[in-house]
Amino acid sequence: LRETTSQVIRVNNKVFSSNTYLCRTKNPDECLLIDPGLDPEAIDATMAEQALRPIAVLSTHGHFDHMGSASFFREKYQIPFYLPQSDLKIAKSAAFLLMACRIKAKVVTPPIDHPITAEEWFPIAGCNVRFVQVPGHTPGSCFIEYEGSLFTGDSLYAEGVGLVDFPGEDQAVLKTSLLKIWDFFDEALTVYPGHGRSNTLGHIKANNKPLRRFLGFEPADESVPAKTGTVTRTGDTLSWEPS
Ligand SMILES: [Fe+2]
Repeated sequence: LRETTSQVIRVNNKVFSSNTYLCRTKNPDECLLIDPGLDPEAIDATMAEQALRPIAVLSTHGHFDHMGSASFFREKYQIPFYLPQSDLKIAKSAAFLLMACRIKAKVVTPPIDHPITAEEWFPIAGCNVRFVQVPGHTPGSCFIEYEGSLFTGDSLYAEGVGLVDFPGEDQAVLKTSLLKIWDFFDEALTVYPGHGRSNTLGHIKANNKPLRRFLGFEPADESVPAKTGTVTRTGDTLSWEPS
């Protein structure tokens, strides 16, 4: 399953369903590789099809489905890896989390070449990339903004709220973070979440009912479960999607 816009190409990892994004830079044959998941072959094949070479690996946070193949691409293309410093511990426990989820995949956590410790603009090969800290889903979770695109990991979805009960999740902190960013970003930005479909930030603010309830903009509805994602298993494949 692939979704392509002029700037951003989505690759859906199959081993554990998550979105990896190839974000074109100003150079026609280069891209940022964002949230490389557990399906490096599909990601690499898509880059080859599109004649794109990654210039950096950037992860919104340290969960295995967002950095599981960072080591592979960092080594193959000799490119730097960007990860929030506060998520290093979670990234290093990827193998344990995979076992807990009974997923047959191996993850090597590479060294972080550029640890993110605060809100930062980074020039990467002539591109200005901004990391904004949005803790809660994990202690280090960030949004990554580039040229009208906002990569939100598991902190913000177009539909639903990504509550997972993984170690390190803090729902009260996530709520505080999302309330802060609500008016911080331009509503015209396109949100590219870690799972599920994209939409503009303005559309999500107006229409994501579970999120609006989570943030207290609409009264809680007892008939709607607080956990709005669903885990499904097909053979060895485990997937999670916001409902
Ligand atoms: Fe996550």
